[in-house]
Amino acid sequence: MDKLLIEGGLPLKGEASVSGAKNAALPLLCAALLTREPLTLTNVPRLNDVGTMLGLLGQMGVKVSRDEGDEDDTVTLDASGLDNPVAPYERVKTMRAAILVLGPLVARAGEAKVSLPGGCAIGARPVDQHIKGLAAMGAEISVEHGYVIAKSPRQRDGSIRLSGARLFTDMVTVTGTENLMMAACLAEGETLIENAAREPEVVDLANCLLAMGAKIEGAGSDVIRIQGVARLSGATHRIMADRIETGTYLCAAAATGGQVRLSGTQAGTLDAVIEKLRESGCKVGVEAHAIHLTAPKRLTPVDIRTAPYPGFPTDMQAQFMAVNALADGVAVIRETIFENRFMHATELIRLGADIKIDGNTAVVKGVSKLDGATVMATDLRASASLVIAGLTAQGETLIDRIYHLDRGYEGLEQKLTALGAPRPTGAVESHIWLFDCPP
Ligand code: UD1
Repeated sequence: MDKLLIEGGLPLKGEASVSGAKNAALPLLCAALLTREPLTLTNVPRLNDVGTMLGLLGQMGVKVSRDEGDEDDTVTLDASGLDNPVAPYERVKTMRAAILVLGPLVARAGEAKVSLPGGCAIGARPVDQHIKGLAAMGAEISVEHGYVIAKSPRQRDGSIRLSGARLFTDMVTVTGTENLMMAACLAEGETLIENAAREPEVVDLANCLLAMGAKIEGAGSDVIRIQGVARLSGATHRIMADRIETGTYLCAAAATGGQVRLSGTQAGTLDAVIEKLRESGCKVGVEAHAIHLTAPKRLTPVDIRTAPYPGFPTDMQAQFMAVNALADGVAVIRETIFENRFMHATELIRLGADIKIDGNTAVVKGVSKLDGATVMATDLRASASLVIAGLTAQGETLIDRIYHLDRGYEGLEQKLTALGAPRPTGAVESHIWLFDCPP
């Protein structure tokens, strides 16, 4: 999918189901590297990033089996034949999360060569904290020719293993916490990760590692304690629902004045987002595994400050900018996690939004309507905000470089179509036209 054409202007209504979480799936796939036994994951989302990770693991000698017709979206990984602990630049450059192989590889294979991810559109995004943590665990680690090269130390009993250590990350880092937690599971002795990320995806990973025989306490808090074990076993684990996908569809319903019910999701992972939607005037109801939302006639502006979990997620900032673009008043959005995450603002302005950027602050003055135009997607969540804006805009919006969406939203067209207003009898068109355009 390269371009997306959206005919906007009508409310989203109906029901859609939420897929497995991309940001949980990626570390969980890497957890397979920690054991010689098969790891079976269900609810694995069909996303390009998942495909990239499976390709990378396959290149390392991991056997991957996926039943295409399987309704549970099951993937089984068998890393007993792991023989090539290398993540080449070509793989890592398209997906920064490939750095998540580093910890498991050093821990189990005793060595790793992983390309540095480099910067990306939303910011510099270094991995110094991952490196610092592994070094503190005794890894001999260096950066040479763009690659992180790491080796585990030899323990007194002759085994090649990382050593447990007390780790403190300078800032809260999600993949950093995940990498170090996975590495610590096979280290000799106890590891303490302080200032750990508390994201639900970290907890999901910890739950899978526990099922594999790891000894972990405190996941979900800012101190995680891990007692290393000599080996981990296989397990079966269901991946949590995608809270960012959930939030994106809720925002789309809010912005279009719609009414939706999203099933297969966990409201408890979305408190900050639900609170902001309620503040904007939406009625949000929570069920055991579903959320429903009814939008007000006109949205109230909501100020946002992104922060590590349980604060407001940076991955929902762009979508809320689209919501605020249509609110009745002025909203201030502060981005505190990434230094360059306002690129969607200039594109939203092309659709008629009134947004002023000053450093890490965006001031959004709501307008009564947006107008369709041609816009360019710059990253995954920026693309989502343009889709939301396009759905609300009058006339056609053509979004270019939409391939970013395939990295993080499974079946976007189908789900939006399912949320489309019912077609009038006899009519041949719905208000949402989504199709692949030629490149
Ligand atoms: C993860 C998510 C991403 C989300 C982000 C913040 C995955 C696969 N991706 O990315 O969707 O937007 O968390 O919630 O889970 N930093 C350093 N040095 C490091 C590590 C991080 O300076 O070694 C900085 C980053 O540049 C950034 C901040 O710390 O400014 C947080 O980044 P981090 O939590 O690591 O983001 P990711 O784990 O890459």
